Amino acid sequence: MSLVEEAQQLKPQLVQWRRHLHQFPELSFHEVETQQYLLDALSAMGLSPKPIGKTGVAVDIGQGQGGVAIRADIDALPLQEESEHPFRSQRPGVMHACGHDGHTAILLGVAKLLSAQAETLPGRIRLMFQPAEELMPGGAKLLIADGVLEDMDRVLGLHLASDLPTGVVGTIVGPATANADRFTIEIEGRGGHGSQPERTIDPIVAAAELVLSLQSIVSRNISPRHSAVVTVGTLESGSNFNIIAPRARLTGTVRTFDAQDRHLIEERMAALVTHVSEAHGAEGRLDYIQGYPSVINSRAETELAEHVITRILGANGLAHPEPLMAGEDFSYYLEELPGTFLNLGCGNPSVGATYPHHHPKFTLDEDALPIGVSILASLALEFLMLGQS
Ligand code: NI
Repeated sequence: MSLVEEAQQLKPQLVQWRRHLHQFPELSFHEVETQQYLLDALSAMGLSPKPIGKTGVAVDIGQGQGGVAIRADIDALPLQEESEHPFRSQRPGVMHACGHDGHTAILLGVAKLLSAQAETLPGRIRLMFQPAEELMPGGAKLLIADGVLEDMDRVLGLHLASDLPTGVVGTIVGPATANADRFTIEIEGRGGHGSQPERTIDPIVAAAELVLSLQSIVSRNISPRHSAVVTVGTLESGSNFNIIAPRARLTGTVRTFDAQDRHLIEERMAALVTHVSEAHGAEGRLDYIQGYPSVINSRAETELAEHVITRILGANGLAHPEPLMAGEDFSYYLEELPGTFLNLGCGNPSVGATYPHHHPKFTLDEDALPIGVSILASLALEFLMLGQS
């Protein structure tokens, strides 16, 4: 029986794992029951899993030189689920709304399939169940610090994608997600009576001008051939109609693909915050926090993935989606090793899988689970046969 057929036969088990995880979601770095569930499930397969990175789990299958690491993120989001299905979240305000329950079930499926052929593997497969993808600074850095990539040659991962239909897998060579940064700006003015502007420094006027000036960075400083986003998400100031506020506070996010663009935007923001505030007699401060860097997929590994995808799903099963402006901490693994991060289609209107990720009614087509297992397991074997990089 082929890996693809074995993965199909595993579907009821995959669904059971996924629905259990979905009912009992846990927030980033609090995946205590999830960790125990994974340790138990992997031990029951005859494997020797170990806790890693606070609330994560790692396990090796096979022996010998060379290895491929495969990652699933296991955390849920602080969101109240609004679905009606019987396996909806049992925990108020916590929900697997990004599909990480599916990623985890898929990696358990990979464990099940590959553990059956552990003796004959031409190297080692390391499964990484990573906590806290959703919460900066993220679990990936912790796992790497704990040595999870030692003796590994390549790395592999996927994300379910409700905007791709089930039966389609998307690949991207090069940058696949954005550098996802955030910022806070404080503008210090001098408050007073709304009728006496001459005795105050109005931070709202400075903030308003700053919001517009910030928009000039992408249009005037970034090459038109590159993509970048500067968004002011909140602007808070003032307490009443006839009071000039003492200060204003802005928060927002910056998204780029290019490291130099990222640096340039931070520099330009700092200059604008200082000087626009100064021009109004106010004092501006920028706190710029770098988030996850871009996921950058290596060419050779991604092309091999495309080969495996078309072999399993046919030519129509391969898509090349646009890079996502979202952030993803799989990037840290790809800074260490070559590899690729795939988009696994799970959209299907007939099962209600049409909502975007992070939506309170997000759900996935469970037919995508065995597809994910067969793609990851097959590709991991191909990577192992490539040998050491
Ligand atoms: Ni996610």
